Amino acid sequence: MTSAKKILCIGAGYVGGPTMAMIASKCPRYRVTVVDIDPERIAAWNSDELPIYEPGLDQLVAAARGRNLFFSTDIEAGIRENDIIFVSVNTPTKAFGLGAGMAADLQYWEKTARQILAFSESSKIVIEKSTLPVKTALAMERILNSRTNGVFFDVLSNPEFLAEGTAIHDLEQPDRILIGSRETERGLKARETLAEIYANWVPREKIITSNIWSSELSKLVANAFLAQRISSINAVSALCEKAEADVTEVARAVGMDSRIGAKFLNASIGFGGSCFKKDILNLVYLCRNYGLEEVADYWESVVKINDYQQERFIRNMLGAMFNTLAGKRICLWGFAFKANTSDTRESPAIFVTRRLLVERAEVVVSDPKALKNARIDLAGAAGRVSYVEDPVRAAEGCHAIALLTEWDLYRHLDLRKIFKTMEKPAFIFDGRNLLDHRRCFDIGFNVYPLGKPPLTHF
Ligand code: NAD
Ligand code: UGA
Repeated sequence: MTSAKKILCIGAGYVGGPTMAMIASKCPRYRVTVVDIDPERIAAWNSDELPIYEPGLDQLVAAARGRNLFFSTDIEAGIRENDIIFVSVNTPTKAFGLGAGMAADLQYWEKTARQILAFSESSKIVIEKSTLPVKTALAMERILNSRTNGVFFDVLSNPEFLAEGTAIHDLEQPDRILIGSRETERGLKARETLAEIYANWVPREKIITSNIWSSELSKLVANAFLAQRISSINAVSALCEKAEADVTEVARAVGMDSRIGAKFLNASIGFGGSCFKKDILNLVYLCRNYGLEEVADYWESVVKINDYQQERFIRNMLGAMFNTLAGKRICLWGFAFKANTSDTRESPAIFVTRRLLVERAEVVVSDPKALKNARIDLAGAAGRVSYVEDPVRAAEGCHAIALLTEWDLYRHLDLRKIFKTMEKPAFIFDGRNLLDHRRCFDIGFNVYPLGKPPLTHF
């Protein structure tokens, strides 16, 4: 049995909360504290209504909270009392100054490092959980070890690979845990201390180690590869629409090649989420900084195709609906950036709504979990937007449904009943290829899937 440990996580977000809940659950002898500067977020973590929706999270938190899992705003005490500190603060794209719109904004990370330095009375292991540009650990080491009072900090990189909506599964059975460290005696010892934590439930062969720069870079590259697959299939979806091929059939045939693999080949309105775009832009910025223009252009094209796919979706809607959306009611099924989350950060639904409003359409937003965030995202939007949780009621009186999030519930709706309540001709634009398109067509809808020939009654 491993010894008891006292662990702190700074940043109680989508990563910090679930990750620490998993550690507390799997390691009952450890004491795990999660701190944040946002008192509302901490209050929510301490309540029955957690700040994020994630399947299985409520139960995990309820079982450990108050036993060996604590949420607090007392960052100073947290730093003083713990010797293993994960940092999981946000690292958004920089919105100002040099690198604006591309580079990672490291202000939250650096503030955290300075707080750790200010409040530490003993040596600590500081773990980069946030996704960061390569060589951030070097800057952290320089800040943290800038004093000569005998207190020393070992900085490790331990990127998180969980995906929202499946976070609990991903944390419980990760494909791998990656730990990067300095390859000094101290660095290797710190690396082993962290590996020991995960070894409580993750098989040792899945806990891999590397030098610290490889670890930082691997996270950016993993996200870039995942996003690249989506942009590849989305680019192919545009060609399929012209060539009367079916993108689902192409993806199946291509994905059965074991060298390519079947996952992450679902054509869509484009990837969303807080990380893919920001991490690729961060990679692009790094490449440009090193003078690698061709490499930067290559990765930037992944983001360009993603923008193109969203714009294409709107143009297809406009074209299909007789080149005018003005005054038409359009119902959005789904606003979250993917199913099984309430997260709407960088959701293509935000872009689609704004573009529909520019066309002077009326938009009815429906989503089982994300309406609260949708309201915040669209707060400044000029035009008419309403929010209706029930997808059947949301579609009433609408000219078209645009399916934007692949929530399973949309598969099981009474489409015949929905069709009757809609304006005619009624349209479905399936941005996720989720519905049974032949059935929708037989009911009377004009159906526009992605990357497949449309089924229309005209
Ligand atoms: P988030 O915005 O949900 O959470 C970050 C939290 O950090 C916020 O609650 C914020 O208040 C807090 N914070 C900021 N500065 C602070 C400070 N000085 N002291 C204390 N708290 C502070 O972000 P997230 O989605 O959890 O992402 C965190 C990091 O993990 C990012 O670098 C992201 O790229 C990476 N990541 C995210 C995911 C994901 O699925 N969301 C997956 C893997 C990696
Ligand atoms: C992604 C990665 O999958 C995680 O490994 C990583 O840890 C995380 O980013 C991160 O660094 O934040 P996440 O964004 O939560 O996770 O969700 P994904 O399942 O990757 O989906 C991202 C977007 O791609 C969603 O909008 C989704 O709908 C879209 N997608 C996904 C497709 O359009 N097609 C697919 O085949 C798969």
